[in-house]
Amino acid sequence: MSKCLAIYGASGGAKETFQVVNDIQKNSPRWSDVVFIDDTVPAGEFKGHKMMPYVEFKKCYSPETAEFHVALGEVEHKKMLSLRVMEDGFALASLIHPDAIIDEGATLGKGVQVKMGAHISSGVVLGDGTWVQAFATIREGTTVGAYSQISAKVSIGKDCQIGNTAFVGMHATVYDGVKIGDSAIIAMGATAVDDVAVEAVCVGNPGRIMMKNTTHRVFGG
Ligand SMILES: CC(C)(COP(=O)(O)OP(=O)(O)OC[C@H]1O[C@@H](n2cnc3c(N)ncnc32)[C@H](O)[C@@H]1OP(=O)(O)O)[C@@H](O)C(=O)NCCC(=O)NCCS
Repeated sequence: MSKCLAIYGASGGAKETFQVVNDIQKNSPRWSDVVFIDDTVPAGEFKGHKMMPYVEFKKCYSPETAEFHVALGEVEHKKMLSLRVMEDGFALASLIHPDAIIDEGATLGKGVQVKMGAHISSGVVLGDGTWVQAFATIREGTTVGAYSQISAKVSIGKDCQIGNTAFVGMHATVYDGVKIGDSAIIAMGATAVDDVAVEAVCVGNPGRIMMKNTTHRVFGG
């Protein structure tokens, strides 16, 4: 029997995730239903589906009847909630858009999301909870750590190592062989030509280190 898919979140990331889920369902139905989880508002509806706090969800569903995709754009939050649901025994579902290209020999972790038009080459390893947004490309032999985001239209070269909870902003480029540390940010449009240290924020072309990502937040606050 197919399970329910719980999308954790009900903001921008969740809306985009819902679109991917709809496209997967149209292509080949995989889940019996979709429920949104939001701990900040009372139970209600979102996008025509039930929405409820996590504690309420757990009263109605179990790991036998539901699996999760954590749909929060802030990478640290995505990690925290992914660990929470896994501790409770729920599986993390990976969402691969039917129009994404995943070459043979790529390895994808749990709870990964790959959007339309993205291209993952052979030998690439995507850690748990990694998101690869629309039309991003990741070339042979590159590893992306857990819960990191590769944003839309990013190009990542061969044999790069992207750390855990790192964020590569829209239209950024990472040269072949470059290592990006854990929780580092590559700003939108930046070109990382040299290694980027843990928590460093790299901007511009050629990329230079502007500041530290001390808050571990990409979207302010
Ligand atoms: C790098 C980033 C996280 C910095 O955000 P921030 O801490 O809010 O920084 P600010 O906007 O206050 O800018 C700080 C300084 O860096 C500069 N700066 C910010 N982003 C820059 C970029 N991409 N390229 C060049 N300079 C940049 C600003 O002009 C500013 O310079 P100043 O101090 O001389 O005025 C943000 O600019 C970014 O690139 N976010 C990624 C967004 C994205 O790709 N989203 C994907 C869609 S989900």
